[in-house]
Amino acid sequence: MKSHHYRQETEAVRGGVDPEKKNGPLATPIYQTSTFEVTDTEQQVRATPTDMFYTRYGNPTHTVAENAVTQLEGTDKALLFASGMAAITTSVLALLKSGDHVVAQRDIYGGATKFFSSWLPKHGIETTFVDTIEYDQHARAIRPSTRLLYLESPTNPTLRVVDLRKVVALAKQHNLITLIDSTFATPINTRPAEFGIDLVMHSGTKYFGGHSDLICGIVAGRRDLIDEIHESRTTLGGCMDPHAAWLLLRGIRTLAVRVQRHNENALRVSQFLNGHPKVRRTHYPFLEGHPQRALAMEQMHGGGGVLSFEVDGNAGDARRLAESLNLFRLAPSLGGVDSLVTIPALTSHAMISAEHRQKMGVTDQLIRLSVGIENADDLIADLEQALAVLSPARQHVEVG
Ligand SMILES: Cc1ncc(COP(=O)(O)O)c(C=O)c1O
Repeated sequence: MKSHHYRQETEAVRGGVDPEKKNGPLATPIYQTSTFEVTDTEQQVRATPTDMFYTRYGNPTHTVAENAVTQLEGTDKALLFASGMAAITTSVLALLKSGDHVVAQRDIYGGATKFFSSWLPKHGIETTFVDTIEYDQHARAIRPSTRLLYLESPTNPTLRVVDLRKVVALAKQHNLITLIDSTFATPINTRPAEFGIDLVMHSGTKYFGGHSDLICGIVAGRRDLIDEIHESRTTLGGCMDPHAAWLLLRGIRTLAVRVQRHNENALRVSQFLNGHPKVRRTHYPFLEGHPQRALAMEQMHGGGGVLSFEVDGNAGDARRLAESLNLFRLAPSLGGVDSLVTIPALTSHAMISAEHRQKMGVTDQLIRLSVGIENADDLIADLEQALAVLSPARQHVEVG
C-alpha cells in the first residue's frame, strides 16, 4: 500500500485503503471466512504468512482496519484483537518471560490491574504499582529485571494525565518497553508514538467502534514488537471476528468528528458539574483547576469524552443520582455515541481490592460519565434534574 500522510480527519475517513485503487468497492468487503482456498501447495506455502491463509493468523478485513489505525497513530504497524483485554494480555505475555518485572501505574483499568496483580505472578512475573504521576516512584521501582513500563493516560476513572516525555525518558534510560493504554485519549486527541512510546493500546470497544456494538482490542507500535505480539496472537488465539472488524472500520470512518463532539460536550458538562453545590469534585483534564491541565493541553487536542465526579454525599446518594438520570444510561463501558453513567466501585473497579481502590481515589461516591454526542444542553438538564433528587447540599461546618 502507498504510504501517505493526511490530517487526522482525512486518515479516519480514508485510512487503510489504497487511494490509487480503481474499480473496486468503495466500502471494504467483509471477508467472513475462517479459511482461504489455494490452487496448489506452492501457493499454500506462499499464503501462510499473509492475511489470506487462516483468519486466526490474519484476514483482509482486519488488514484494512489495522492499516487505518497505523495511519491514525503514526506507528509502523497495528494489530486487532478480540477485546481490549486480549490486546493487553497477549502483548504482555508476548514480551515478558518468567523472572521479568513490570512497573505499572496504579491508576489503570481494573481488568489490567487484576491481570498484573493476580495472573502474572502465576507465571513468575512480578509487578510493582506506583503512583501514576510521581515519576520518582517509577524510577525507584525499576530493577535490573524490569522490562516493561505499563501506562494509561488519561486514567480510568480519575482522569490523571501522564507526562509522556518524562516516562519515555525514564524508559529509555533503563531500556524498558513502554506500553500505554490510550483508550481515553484516542489518536484524535493524543498520538503517544510521537512522544516515543513503543506500544499504544486501545480498547477498540470504546471510541474506535463508537456505537457500543462490538468488542475489540488494538495494539499499534514498533514493527519488531508488533511482529512478536502477532505471533503470540496467533498462538493464544485472541483474533477478531471479520464482521466485527468491519464494524470497527465503519466506526473509524467517523472517529474524528465524534471525538471532537465528545470533547466539546464533556468540557461543557464538567464545567456545569464543577460549579454545582452537590458536587464535591470533578475530574476532567481540560477543566480549570485540574492538577495536570497545562500538561493535558500541551499533550492533547481535547480532554476526551469521559469525566468523573464525586457527589457530596454517601454511596447511596451516588447510586440514587445514577438511577435518576434519563439520558445518561446506566451501563458500563464508554466511548459510544450514547451518554452512559457508571459507579466505578461497582463496575470497572469492582474486581480490585477496596484498599487499592482507595489509593486510586475511586471512592464509593465517585460517578463516571461517558459523555456522548447528544446536545450538551439536554445532557446538562438531565444532570440538573438528577442532582435535584438528592437531599440538600451539606453545610461544610468545621467541628471541634
Ligand atoms: C481504559 C480501558 N482499557 C481497557 C479496557 C478493556 O477493554 P475490553 O473491555 O475491550 O476488553 C477497558 C474496558 O472498559 C478500559 O476502559
